[in-house]
Amino acid sequence: MIVIKTAAEIASMRRAGRVVAALLQDVGAKVRPGVTTLELDQLAGQVLERHGATSPFIGYQPAQARKPYPGFTCMSVNEQVVHGVPSTRRLVDGDILTIDCGALLDGWVADGAWTFAVGTISAEARELLQVTEQALNAAIAASRNGNQSGDVGAAMQKVVEAHGFNVIREHTSHGVGRELHEDPHIPNHGKAGTGLRLRTGMTIAMEPMVLAGHYATQLQDDEWTVAAKDGRLTAHFEHTIAIQDGDADILTRL
Ligand code: MF3
Ligand code: CO
Repeated sequence: MIVIKTAAEIASMRRAGRVVAALLQDVGAKVRPGVTTLELDQLAGQVLERHGATSPFIGYQPAQARKPYPGFTCMSVNEQVVHGVPSTRRLVDGDILTIDCGALLDGWVADGAWTFAVGTISAEARELLQVTEQALNAAIAASRNGNQSGDVGAAMQKVVEAHGFNVIREHTSHGVGRELHEDPHIPNHGKAGTGLRLRTGMTIAMEPMVLAGHYATQLQDDEWTVAAKDGRLTAHFEHTIAIQDGDADILTRL
């Protein structure tokens, strides 16, 4: 069931979205060689608290998961695509780190992610970050009242494949609102002119995940972290947006 939000509800979601943006800015500024992802996650918990928000991730347990999610945020390094569990792993120069975070504020959720460079990164990593951010922007540009989910997936795929990279298949973008994951689920790949029709008032967490190599993934031993099977680099950018008649309204920005 797709829940259409009123303008007032979207305003509430924007308040949660600003916390997400502040978190990514504040914690992103601390990303450097030598820091652990657990330290960054603790900092994220403090940022949420300072804004009167909580994490919609911690304790989250969808039907298919064997244990509740243990972090305030997801911290995915290099080949880890999504749902990376914060740990005592120390970041090193040349790593790329995705911080994926949500904020729950006054009963509303916003969800966002950004991939950061740790020190000096390779040319391939730089290209991957640029292309994944571009894929997110292309997806947002394709997200308007009357367009279809396949238009959005095709827009992402076009940008990504032009650079020889691949979009994820096993994870989708998704509705967000009172719940972290709501309908509709929007594949990050697709064929233009197909699929569900986007309507004004839908709120979507748009999240292309891009792999430098093949899109196949595997679950790591912690039972949450999803990694590229071939071990190559991956990136992930995400904004929560509200569909409108014209350009979508980006809620996770300051
Ligand atoms: N942005 C991620 C997603 O929509 C957030 C996952 S939270 C987790 O999949 F708890 F499931 F890890
Ligand atoms: Co999400």
